[in-house]
Amino acid sequence: VVAHLQPKPLAGRRVVVTAGPTFEAIDPVRGITNLSSGKMGFAIARAAREAGADVTLVAGPVHQPTPRGVGRVDVQSAREMLDATVAAAAQADVFVATAAVADWRPSAPSRDKIKKTEGGAPPQLAFTENPDILKTIAQGERARSGRLFCVGFAAESRDLAANAQAKRERKGVPLLVGNIGPATFGRDDNELLLVDAQGTRPLPRASKRDLARTLVAEIASRLPRTA
Ligand code: CTP
Ligand code: CA
Repeated sequence: VVAHLQPKPLAGRRVVVTAGPTFEAIDPVRGITNLSSGKMGFAIARAAREAGADVTLVAGPVHQPTPRGVGRVDVQSAREMLDATVAAAAQADVFVATAAVADWRPSAPSRDKIKKTEGGAPPQLAFTENPDILKTIAQGERARSGRLFCVGFAAESRDLAANAQAKRERKGVPLLVGNIGPATFGRDDNELLLVDAQGTRPLPRASKRDLARTLVAEIASRLPRTA
């Protein structure tokens, strides 16, 4: 009973989370994508909602149930994810980028299905770089004026601390969460590393649900006080 009377750490705050992979069309029946179950991002959206926030979850193609009370926007491509995220972040206090965004998309997707031809050569694909959603939001007016707290994620296959710190600085975000991938993709547990201007701090192996709660509490403690 007492727990219900306690103030929720994100009450009155708006949180935007990106989650899952993006899908970039080659033709109407094919595309390229990234490995991501969306579990960590969905767990963060849920934990933020439970902490009292108004949550918008911008999700790429995943098979995850929408957490109770969370507003969900489904997208496919990185450009769709950017548009939905920019719109939601315009009112937000926190942005958490967990999505595994495809870094490149086929430059000229075919309107019709590409057909095999007898003895023909396989198609050659040319790629264009996708927009960096986190960097775009972090460089925007709302983040730079301190009204929007941005958090990045990074899966690194080696040298996690050094790579994550360099990535945090490149993205221009106060907090970046590292994990050693791809071993943890799709699993229910994880092991994280918090990286900020002060240095790094490990969050020991736990369920994604518990890690999400810890992370949400950590974010809440870093927000400027409301008037
Ligand atoms: N990210 C994003 N938009 C992109 C690429 C990445 O919003 N086009 C976000 C991810 O959601 C994550 C963070 O940026 O929060 C780091 O993503 P990552 O792929 O590790 O970084 P990159 O800058 O793409 O570097 P890398 O070459 O290591 O993939
Ligand atoms: Ca990338």
